[in-house]
Amino acid sequence: MSKPNIAVIGAQWGDEGKGKIVDMLTPHFSAVARYQGGHNAGHTVYVQGRKFVLHLIPSGILHPDVTCIIGNGVVIDPQALFREIDELAAVGVDVDSRLLISEKAHVILPYHRELDVLSEARRGERKIGTTSRGIGPAYEDKIGRRGIRICDLIGDPAALQQEVRENVSARNRIIKDSTLDWKPVFDHLVAFGERIRPWVTDVSLFLARAIQAGNAVLFEGAQATLLDIDHGTYPFVTSSNASVGGICTGLGVAPKAIGGVLGVAKAYTTRVGEGPLPTELAGPLAERLREGGQEYGASTGRPRRCGWYDAVVVRYSARINGLDALALTKLDVLDGLPEVRVCTGYRTPSGTITEFPADLRPLATAEPVYETLPGWSTPTKGATRFEQLPAEARRYLQRLEEVSGVACAIISTGSDRAETILREGSCAAGWLA
Ligand code: IMP
Repeated sequence: MSKPNIAVIGAQWGDEGKGKIVDMLTPHFSAVARYQGGHNAGHTVYVQGRKFVLHLIPSGILHPDVTCIIGNGVVIDPQALFREIDELAAVGVDVDSRLLISEKAHVILPYHRELDVLSEARRGERKIGTTSRGIGPAYEDKIGRRGIRICDLIGDPAALQQEVRENVSARNRIIKDSTLDWKPVFDHLVAFGERIRPWVTDVSLFLARAIQAGNAVLFEGAQATLLDIDHGTYPFVTSSNASVGGICTGLGVAPKAIGGVLGVAKAYTTRVGEGPLPTELAGPLAERLREGGQEYGASTGRPRRCGWYDAVVVRYSARINGLDALALTKLDVLDGLPEVRVCTGYRTPSGTITEFPADLRPLATAEPVYETLPGWSTPTKGATRFEQLPAEARRYLQRLEEVSGVACAIISTGSDRAETILREGSCAAGWLA
């Protein structure tokens, strides 16, 4: 039987360490495909002490012979793409012969970033806390049916000129006193089209043929389920479907092609940007997690908000995505704490909530319901076998699995590739066998 195609998806609010998990799994796959988001993502991978931060290009690029795919669901900022390709090439990573980009992917135009910043300023106190990368405005144009796609850049120049003129005049109507000239935007896109042309293809067809030939594909999620435009903490979300459904629409693959779904969650919780974070901590404990886990945005450098592990969130992600298992990351960051906590519900004046709500208002005043477990003084850092973990850490993991309703197949005990436990007998071990 051929190996299944596996999805790796954020089970919290992003920054769970998906890049490391994708990098670790990649040698077992022939292709790694991104299906949504853009360069708002920051996937950090450490290889033998060297740090790589990938934004648009799938984390699989660090392994030779693997094809890296950017699907139609991704929004592409030409400058960001070329910067990343050039940076990788400068350290000897071959991108040229291994990258494929969907002809249907939408382009982030130079003024989308400006619109993003303006929209945030207009929202004032209700701002989303976006990455200011122009992601939302690019998806707005896509859904508004006025977006510019990669195939437009390499097709008929006259048609592209018409589209750019219409887009720029629409933008000039939105921004007061704006008189942006369409010509530099057009020239920028033509130049982009020329450089990107060799990589552009029908990604859906490529994937269908690869899968039919028995070559396994890894679907790499960016952002996370609680940032999903439909299932996340709306409106404090990103503008794409980061959860499992985004794979089908964002790559043109059938649901049946997804053979397994691995959720990635931290052993605690973090979030960047605004919006609810029910288990958020303040003071020295928050600082301890932030410093211990180096919780600063890989794309923006913003300090991440930190809190205890929230099982309501992960259980919700398990349901939305049909998670087969979890990869639990950064367990070592909890090393040395006298006690650790797991949130199992939210107490509100009208009762305890145990299923993640659509209406966020009750969360503003809700009190997390915690179970407190003993911490561990023997470090888990660098452990590569489950048996090496101290008994208290194993107990914490067991309880976390019980209340989240999903088993931990992979446990990450440090930032390096090698600092990982793949649990024997787990479904992930089966996928990779
Ligand atoms: P946008 O995607 O830049 O529009 O930002 C919308 C929300 O998603 C903000 O709260 C961002 O902080 C968050 N966000 C976007 N990308 C990431 C990511 O890669 N990790 C964590 N949060 C993200």
